[in-house]
Amino acid sequence: MSPTGFESPKPVLAIEGLTVSFDGFKAVNDLNLYVDRNEVRVVIGPNGAGKTTVLDLICGKTRATTGSIQFDGRELTKMREYDIVRAGVGRKFQNPSIYENLSVFENLEMSYPKGRKVFGALFFKRSAAVVERVEEIAAEIGLAAQLHQQADLLSHGQKQWLEIGMLLMQDPALLMLDEPVAGMSVSERVQTAELLKRISQGRSVLVIEHDMEFVKSIAHKVTVLHQGKVLAEGSMEAVQSNPKVVEVYLGH
Ligand SMILES: Nc1ncnc2c1ncn2[C@@H]1O[C@H](COP(=O)(O)OP(=O)(O)OP(=O)(O)O)[C@@H](O)[C@H]1O
Ligand SMILES: [Mg+2]
Repeated sequence: MSPTGFESPKPVLAIEGLTVSFDGFKAVNDLNLYVDRNEVRVVIGPNGAGKTTVLDLICGKTRATTGSIQFDGRELTKMREYDIVRAGVGRKFQNPSIYENLSVFENLEMSYPKGRKVFGALFFKRSAAVVERVEEIAAEIGLAAQLHQQADLLSHGQKQWLEIGMLLMQDPALLMLDEPVAGMSVSERVQTAELLKRISQGRSVLVIEHDMEFVKSIAHKVTVLHQGKVLAEGSMEAVQSNPKVVEVYLGH
């Protein structure tokens, strides 16, 4: 306890001194990044800045050369990808990885957290819980009416929402999305912003995006990455009027 009795809330994600070197090239270079609980953070920056690599490091797809990633009090740099998911980190890649020949319902059902064994009498109870969860998530991602439609019939935007729904089935405390509105129509972008606002209730969201209109509509705070380091951080307005940011990114 501090003398005043007030503690600044601990960030849910604390990245410190994070570096990854690919054959001597530091794609992420001594990075510090802190994300609060219930925060929507957007990471922007030029191509090759290291944005996707940061998500790869957090989810354990790429191993850090040095540095620390603390999530909810746990050190992620030493954990396996699967255990990082179980610890509450969900990550969406640039291309949706849904099962095209399965229905929306089946895609969501497949993502229901495993690990609990199914025994006899428990079976019915559990499947009822799964159905309830699937219906709840389908409503949240705006696909309640498409529940029994095959996934390949969905629009590009709806497929992206389905994949977000598949991540939500695990109820992650931190959801990471890499360019979620790429290739979407204007109305799909607006709907995705609304979706992110809904799903960020009670969890933190880390988004990489190039579409500045979209960034403006969702970001609590923006981090600008350049050459694997934080170039600027703050409100969208502050970042947009930062001459260094204009020079390396927004001016182009
Ligand atoms: N596994 C890897 N091996 C070697 N180099 C890599 C690897 N992953 C990423 N890089 C390099 O690291 C740099 C950062 O790439 P990254 O994909 O993180 O950029 P980004 O900021 O996501 O860019 P974009 O906006 O184009 O998606 C690039 O120069 C890339 O070529
Ligand atoms: Mg990228």
